[in-house]
Amino acid sequence: MKTQIIKISDLSRDAAKLRQAARIIEDGGLVALPTETVYGIAANALDPDAVAGIFRVKGRPQDNPLIVHAAELEDVFPLVQDFPDDAMWLAKKFWPGPLTIVLLKNDIVPDIVSAGLDTVAVRMPSHPVTRAIIRESGLPLAAPSANISGRPSPTTAAHCIEDLNGKVDMIIDGGECSVGLESTVVSLAVSPPRLLRPGAVTLEDLRFILGDVAADAAVTSKLPNGSTAASPGMKYRHYSPKAKITLVHGNFADFARYIAKKPAATALVFDGEDKRLKVPCVTYGGANKPEEQAQQLFAALRRLDEIGAERVYARAPEITGLGLAVYNRLIRAAAFDEMFI
Ligand code: TXA
Ligand code: MG
Repeated sequence: MKTQIIKISDLSRDAAKLRQAARIIEDGGLVALPTETVYGIAANALDPDAVAGIFRVKGRPQDNPLIVHAAELEDVFPLVQDFPDDAMWLAKKFWPGPLTIVLLKNDIVPDIVSAGLDTVAVRMPSHPVTRAIIRESGLPLAAPSANISGRPSPTTAAHCIEDLNGKVDMIIDGGECSVGLESTVVSLAVSPPRLLRPGAVTLEDLRFILGDVAADAAVTSKLPNGSTAASPGMKYRHYSPKAKITLVHGNFADFARYIAKKPAATALVFDGEDKRLKVPCVTYGGANKPEEQAQQLFAALRRLDEIGAERVYARAPEITGLGLAVYNRLIRAAAFDEMFI
């Protein structure tokens, strides 16, 4: 398949390109597009054959459901059985933006989208390009992250090209994603509400609006073999570069001493720390800047592969606020290998 690669920088000047992208979606094709979190591979969520294409291209296990994206609140209502008050509060505060809400689904959502569950995950993205394509097509979009399953999620069009060139109809370059990690996923289909995946809308933010919110065990720890995941995506090895990574908790001085004894290692560290180490380094934002860490982490994981890193020791982030989301992705990239020094 020949993939069209186009750049959209101005919605009115690029109106013809938006129309073309919407046409591909209407015709059952696949478009990789930018959102504020990460790039997604989008298809018409109401067309099971189109959605099957997403699973095929990503090599995604069939039991891992997709998020459905809408541009307006009234376009979410037909997808769900009920939009409870808690959902309305969250939507008022955080939509459009990096929050996905799991609710009981309506029959118009095909089983392949929800992987046979009785719930559907819905989100209203804020990225203007994706909002324009949803409006132009008049369709809800099923869109997982635009990586091959198991790879770090793409935060630039170049990452999408690495993973998807020749496999989708179109890749739209809309610049670097501003958040850099996938949306927060919260389920309102259980009581109390449950955080299934941490993101830029933090656990603290959710508790401020909803009161009691449980954090699923899978947010910070490895699920025991054989257990059922509330969010199926959480059970897969994820975000993995080829290198073996160990996440190291502790201060920089101890980290520097530790890594000095491992000359063949590569260090994944915070900005500026690279200049104080003798091993090859990749950086992922400032030490006390979780927004920067979130925005840069996935590109840093891809960079480790580019420089041929085989054994990586990574500085651990703070685990509160947005740091919980950074930690959640890094610990999966490290296949849960962490140490305290
Ligand atoms: O930021 C994002 O959410 C990006 C952009 C493209 O919107 N999308 C994304 O999709 O990260 P994906 O498919 O890579 O991750 C969706 C996550 C998975 O962990 C999946 O298991 C979970 O959401 N999920 C989807 N539907 C669900 C449901 N009905 N119940 C529980 N978890 C669900
Ligand atoms: Mg994903």
